[in-house]
Amino acid sequence: MDIVEWIRKLPHSPEGHWGMGHLPIVHFIQEEIKPQTMMEIGLNNGTSAAMWLFSCPQVTLMSVDIGIHKFIGEVADIMREQFDDRFFFLETDSMELPNMKFPIYDLIFIDGGHKFEVCKSDLKFSMEHARYILIDDTAGNSPGVNKVLKEVSLESLQLVKRWNIGAGCILYKNLGITDTSSS
Ligand SMILES: C[S@@+](CC[C@H](N)C(=O)[O-])C[C@H]1O[C@@H](n2cnc3c(N)ncnc32)[C@H](O)[C@@H]1O
Repeated sequence: MDIVEWIRKLPHSPEGHWGMGHLPIVHFIQEEIKPQTMMEIGLNNGTSAAMWLFSCPQVTLMSVDIGIHKFIGEVADIMREQFDDRFFFLETDSMELPNMKFPIYDLIFIDGGHKFEVCKSDLKFSMEHARYILIDDTAGNSPGVNKVLKEVSLESLQLVKRWNIGAGCILYKNLGITDTSSS
């Protein structure tokens, strides 16, 4: 299917999501990290997921969403139609992730619930499951994310890059994960 025609199938979302302005972030990560495996917390209408999958042709993406929006199942189907077995969807509260079994991912992108407890849980989970961690909404407009960045010990994280694009993004290398085997 023509890509433009396919993109038009993704529903409009009332909630914030990535756009063309975020492409430099995806481009940087593809150039510098070339992730093979990724988890994204916060699928929403599939915009950022589609950007990862189109821009990083080697990547396999596990997308997690609690399903606040009724269209989430439809979005997952549309994504699978385009990306087949490079896209997986798990509908769950991300605070349940620590109770499930996952491999180590090359990158986890945190863009789900922005309340303190949710974001804190997502960061702690990512610290145990990702070689690189990208956090969205770090420019100061999200009180929950701000508090997490202040209160959670980031000792094992090395700042790679900060972007003042959209709501702000920070990329960390996780020095706490030493496993270099392919996930
Ligand atoms: C800001 S949107 C994600 C935008 C998307 N990453 C993009 O740029 O296209 C946040 C998403 O997180 C989901 N969400 C909120 N709380 C969550 C939770 N506790 N666990 C998992 N997903 C959650 C919402 O349903 C929503 O779809």
